[in-house]
Amino acid sequence: MENVFVLNPEDASQTEAFPAAMADVHIDCIMNSHTMATFLPPLSRERIIEYHASKAKEIRSGVYSIIAEWVPVDSSNPPSDDVVIWKDRELAGFVMLHRTPSETGPFRAYVEKLLVSSRFRKRGVARRVMAKLEDEARRTDSWALMLDTTVGSGAEFVYPKLGYIMVGVIPEYGLSPKDNKTLEDEIKVLLQGFATEKWIVLSLMNVVLRLLDVLMIS
Ligand SMILES: CC(C)(COP(=O)(O)OP(=O)(O)OC[C@H]1O[C@@H](n2cnc3c(N)ncnc32)[C@H](O)[C@@H]1OP(=O)(O)O)[C@@H](O)C(=O)NCCC(=O)NCCS
Repeated sequence: MENVFVLNPEDASQTEAFPAAMADVHIDCIMNSHTMATFLPPLSRERIIEYHASKAKEIRSGVYSIIAEWVPVDSSNPPSDDVVIWKDRELAGFVMLHRTPSETGPFRAYVEKLLVSSRFRKRGVARRVMAKLEDEARRTDSWALMLDTTVGSGAEFVYPKLGYIMVGVIPEYGLSPKDNKTLEDEIKVLLQGFATEKWIVLSLMNVVLRLLDVLMIS
């Protein structure tokens, strides 16, 4: 059964359930894993729901794609009463693909907020939502995917397993939700070169142009 969904902005049941459920997983990651993810405690659930709802509003324009794994509720391990249920499923984790408008880099996009509920870690949720995100990226010719992740977080070890390479560290990048004071270092991570048709054409043209440059100089 397919559990990974790309948020469809035309489906009202999704635009209602996704932001609230995403906010709860987001809060879980900040409070229980000290994930550096935009907000610091004390957290306002309403504000975080609004944050995710605002991203969902940017799906139609192509700026965002939101990919989420919703798993059927397991009666032998039911969620707590306050968990958002959508079509008899609970949210296991999600990720967002963010395309920023750029004439010089229409192929660049950012992977944001890969967050998996602590109830569902190490069961392949991140791998599956990232695979779907890459399908979405390929579909829209976004072949240079960038993201950043905190040094010392579990995620640091996950991205290399998914083919991403580390391109550098930014010291003292942001405040940790551990105590709202400690400055954490951040790693910049990159996945480049999905073999989309556009990428192949542009890469070949680039090789030809460089060769021509060399021939003209000599
Ligand atoms: C990091 C995180 C997204 C991983 O999600 P997950 O669903 O548990 O990951 P998966 O089960 O898909 O694991 C993918 C691979 O990474 C490995 N992995 C997962 N968590 C790991 C960890 N903490 N340390 C080392 N390796 C890890 C898995 O073993 C797996 O490798 P394999 O397929 O070769 O066996 C999740 O732990 C999380 O949400 N953490 C808090 C939020 C966070 O840090 N997000 C990243 C922000 S950039």
